[in-house]
Amino acid sequence: MGLAAAGPLLAACARTFRIPLSEMSKAEGGPGGEKDPEGLWREGLAYARWTPSPHNIQSWRLRLLSPERAEVYYDPRRLLPKTDPTSAFTIAGLAMFADYLSVALRPRGYEVLADRIARPLDYSATRPTLFANLKLVPFQAGRGGAVLDRNLILQRKTSRLPYDGKPVEDEAMEALASLARAQGHELGWSSEKSMVDWTLDLNRFTLFSDLDNPETRGELRGWIRCSDEEAAKKKDGLWSHCMRFPGWLLRDFFDKHNQFEKGWRRDVCGKMLLHGMAGTRTVAWWSGPFDGPEDWMRCGTLFGQSWLELTRRGISLHPFGSVITNPAAHARLQEKLGAQEGPKRLWLLVRLGRSDVPPRSYRLDEPAIFLDDKELA
Ligand SMILES: Cc1cc2nc3c(=O)[nH]c(=O)nc-3n(C[C@H](O)[C@H](O)[C@H](O)COP(=O)(O)O)c2cc1C
Repeated sequence: MGLAAAGPLLAACARTFRIPLSEMSKAEGGPGGEKDPEGLWREGLAYARWTPSPHNIQSWRLRLLSPERAEVYYDPRRLLPKTDPTSAFTIAGLAMFADYLSVALRPRGYEVLADRIARPLDYSATRPTLFANLKLVPFQAGRGGAVLDRNLILQRKTSRLPYDGKPVEDEAMEALASLARAQGHELGWSSEKSMVDWTLDLNRFTLFSDLDNPETRGELRGWIRCSDEEAAKKKDGLWSHCMRFPGWLLRDFFDKHNQFEKGWRRDVCGKMLLHGMAGTRTVAWWSGPFDGPEDWMRCGTLFGQSWLELTRRGISLHPFGSVITNPAAHARLQEKLGAQEGPKRLWLLVRLGRSDVPPRSYRLDEPAIFLDDKELA
C-alpha cells in the first residue's frame, strides 16, 4: 500500500481513537425531538451518553415529554442478569447517567432533578422500563451539584494501559476521600507494593473465575467486540482494542475456553493481563451503605463525581468491578480489608495512576438513545 493510500486510513484511526471533543458532543436529536424545541435535552444527552457503564452496556434510554420533563428508561436488551445479579452496578451506571445530564446542563444555567424509582431492575421486562423522572430547572447554587467543566465528561475514560510507576499523590486521594465522606462513604487506598500486587492478582483471579463459569462467560460473550468492524458497528460492549488484548485471542478465550482452563495458554493470558497493568502503584476502594437500590444510586453518583475529579487532575482509573460482583473475590477482598478497617461493605475497587491516553470506547448514537413512544406500546 502506497503512502497516499495510508493517509486516509491513518486519519480514520486518529478519528476513532482521538475523536475531537466538539464532534463527541455534537447533538443529533432523535424521536420526540419536537418536545425539545430549545434543544437542551439533546445537548445534555450529547454529553451524558459518554457515561461509563459496566461492560459498556449503555442501558439508558431517554424519553422526552416536554421542554422541562423527560424520563430515563432502561433497555431490557442491555442488562446483565448473570454478572450483575442484584442489578447494583447497572443501577449505579443509570444514576451516573442522570447525574452527568445535570453536569452537562449546569454551565448552560440549568440542572436536572432526578426522581428515581428505587427498586431493583426487572430482568424479566420485555419493554423499556421506567428508571427515573427528570425535571429540568434553572440552576440554583447550593442545591447540591457544582458547576464543572462539562468537557470532563468527554475526557473521562477507563485506562487499562500501564501506569507511570508513581503513586497517586496523597492530596488527590484526600480530595476523593473528602468527597466520599461528604456522602456518607469512606475511601481507603494503598500505595504499598504488596497490597497493589495482591489487588492486581485478585483481579486476575476474578476474571478467570468469571470466565470459567459457563453462565457468566455466556453473558459476557454477548458484550465482547473482537474486531474493529464489530466494535464500530455495534458501538457498545468491550472492544478488544480497549481491553488491550488481540481480538483473535479474546475470541478464542471465550469460544475455545476449554483450551484456557489450565496450562500454558492460561498462564500466558494471566501474564499478559498483569503485564498490561505494569507501573500501577496505587489502588483504592470505597465502602459504605450498599444494601439496596437507593444506596446503589448514591454510590453511582459518587463514583461518577469522583471519576470526573480524577479526570480534572489528569489521573486515570481502571475499575475492578467484577471483584465486587464475584462473590468469592468479594469475600477475599472483604477479608483482607475488613481485617484493617472493620466490617464495612466494600462496593468498589480500582487502580489509579497516570497513563498514556487510552483508546476511546464507542457509544450508541444519540438517535438510538431517545425512546420512541411506539416502543412502549
Ligand atoms: C460500575 C462499573 C464497573 C466496572 N467494572 C469494570 C471491570 O471490572 N473491569 C474493567 O475493565 N472495566 C470496568 N468498568 C469500566 C467499563 O467497562 C467502561 O466504563 C466502559 O467499557 C466504557 O468505557 P470508558 O469508561 O472508557 O468510556 C466498569 C464501569 C462501571 C461503571
